[in-house]
Amino acid sequence: MADLRRERIDYEADPLLEAEVPSDPFVLFGEWLDDALAAKDQGLLEPTAMTVSTVAHDGDEWQPQARVALLKGYDERGFVFFTNYESAKGREIAANPRVCASFFWMQLSRQVRIDGVAEKISAEESDDYFAIRPRGAQVGAWASRQSAEVANLAELETAYEEADLRFPDDPVPRPPHWGGYVIVPHRIEFWVGRRSRMHDRLVYTHNETRWTVGRLAP
Ligand SMILES: Cc1cc2nc3c(=O)[nH]c(=O)nc-3n(C[C@H](O)[C@H](O)[C@H](O)COP(=O)(O)O)c2cc1C
Repeated sequence: MADLRRERIDYEADPLLEAEVPSDPFVLFGEWLDDALAAKDQGLLEPTAMTVSTVAHDGDEWQPQARVALLKGYDERGFVFFTNYESAKGREIAANPRVCASFFWMQLSRQVRIDGVAEKISAEESDDYFAIRPRGAQVGAWASRQSAEVANLAELETAYEEADLRFPDDPVPRPPHWGGYVIVPHRIEFWVGRRSRMHDRLVYTHNETRWTVGRLAP
């Protein structure tokens, strides 16, 4: 087995300084996302991929759950992704809307962590996005009871074929159980990798009406 203890790369990004960052974390996020979107030729192929973490309440225990989802937009409200509202994550959010979304853009030595509360977006906004998805993904949203246990692959394939036949004509309507969430943030941390593990971490915290910036030890 490889000696994982010796697996390491050094990070050497430019410093992240309080005096140089915008007062609005959405502005900084937008700059970083643009950099990530422009880094495909460096191998950054899924710049919008984020890990969305929820807290599941399992019996008497709290159990964190994390999975990747794609960011489909952001605005002054927060960060939008789409999913099945009846999936495990959908049920977890219904019980406890506190979530964390994190991005790791390795080619840029950057990480962003967003703490916030997930809220369903409007049906109209979900319709708008559903309408521009490829037909296969639209049919799949009807066919897949996301997170439910299935007996075998054939069951899923049959469900897809049935959904495909049920909606022979375009446009395929949006299933009521499928739509978007906006993560309304109250804390956003920006991390850049620096030499000797002395990374920079600036954290924006929302206090009633404004954002304040602080620094965390790496
Ligand atoms: C790159 C990537 C992108 C994904 N994007 C989404 C997405 O936007 N929405 C979604 O519901 N699942 C997405 N998934 C699948 C989720 O990671 C997960 O398997 C699924 O949502 C079920 O999660 P749950 O059972 O915790 O609800 C993506 C997975 C990967 C690896």
